[in-house]
Amino acid sequence: MTVAPESPAATSPSLITTLPGHWYTSPSVFRQEQEHLFEAMWFCAVRSADLDRPGAFRTVQVGRESVLITRNRAGELRAFLNICRHRGARLCTEESGTVRRSLQCPYHAWTYDLDGRLTAAPNLQSMPDVDRTERGLLPVRLREWLGYAWVCLADEPPSFEETVVGAVAERLGDAEAVERYGVAGLSLGRRIDYDIKANWKLIVENFMECYHCATIHPELTEVLPEFADGLAAQYFVGHGAEFAEEAQGFTVDGSAGFDRITGIADEQDRRYYAITVQPQVFINLVPDHVIFHRMFPLAADRTLVSCDWLYVPDVVASERDLSKSVELFHRVNTQDFDACERTQPAMHSRAYRRGGVLVPSEHHIGAFHRWVTDHVPTPEAEECP
Ligand code: FES
Ligand code: FE
Repeated sequence: MTVAPESPAATSPSLITTLPGHWYTSPSVFRQEQEHLFEAMWFCAVRSADLDRPGAFRTVQVGRESVLITRNRAGELRAFLNICRHRGARLCTEESGTVRRSLQCPYHAWTYDLDGRLTAAPNLQSMPDVDRTERGLLPVRLREWLGYAWVCLADEPPSFEETVVGAVAERLGDAEAVERYGVAGLSLGRRIDYDIKANWKLIVENFMECYHCATIHPELTEVLPEFADGLAAQYFVGHGAEFAEEAQGFTVDGSAGFDRITGIADEQDRRYYAITVQPQVFINLVPDHVIFHRMFPLAADRTLVSCDWLYVPDVVASERDLSKSVELFHRVNTQDFDACERTQPAMHSRAYRRGGVLVPSEHHIGAFHRWVTDHVPTPEAEECP
């Protein structure tokens, strides 16, 4: 086989190209993304209802930082850097738990209340220069929306209304559209966590494209026939993919799901909407449930994805059989993440030194790449293989 000296990107300006391979493999690129994306933007950390009582806490990795989220005695969520102000030990090493009223550092037993105040420390009276009020846990900004707690580590966070709420409204073409699903009032029917050996951007790109749907998603294209044409519902503003005539519901075999969520509009019935909220959230809306993905990028080649299936409370409380409903998107997830893992090793190859190409309908993925490169300093050329 003859290898062309230049990639198509260099000779055909009309082609939309992807990022070069090292953007998906380089630890230094990932380090920059942690700083300029995940630590700088609103990051969807936990589902609020997972902290179901005062004293409940969760820890999550946000960029390079561990963030501790607590529910205080008043029932409100608070977020802090998960670092003891004494000598910097990680305060909570568990992913989740419940304490009665305070969090105690396992190193020298400095103790903080659920609002982050330093309340006690051994021999504190012998340290007159230590001002307790200045040694509380460092707070992190937190907003709740759609039943999730979003945190931002930036000193000057971007507008939540513009970059999160506005991004969803822009995709749906209607600020009210997502509110009609009452997402914050839904109950968790199922959660599946996926540990994926792939760069987070491959997962975003995959979510935004549908060129692969006909090849790898047989069950999804049965329910959403337009996906077999490779057109992504992502990029038409306000467009929801219509269910197949014979599909009774959004289930793995097209059988009936549950009653539609009462608040949704008639035009939202029998339709599927997919939304990306940069940098790390994907939301799917269907008439009887909502599928909510949070991504936790852990390394250049490793990403955790936590996927929640949310239903009206009665459906979960009455223990209805969710299996056919959950199975459809669980299969889609597995098919997608397998494809990402198949792609990741090739990002190191000289064959991908200049990246690949996007089909014309994927200009929105090109926009995602520009968004990344606008925020992340361009990596050094010598990192190319
Ligand atoms: Fe936490 Fe010393 S490092 S009490
Ligand atoms: Fe897919």
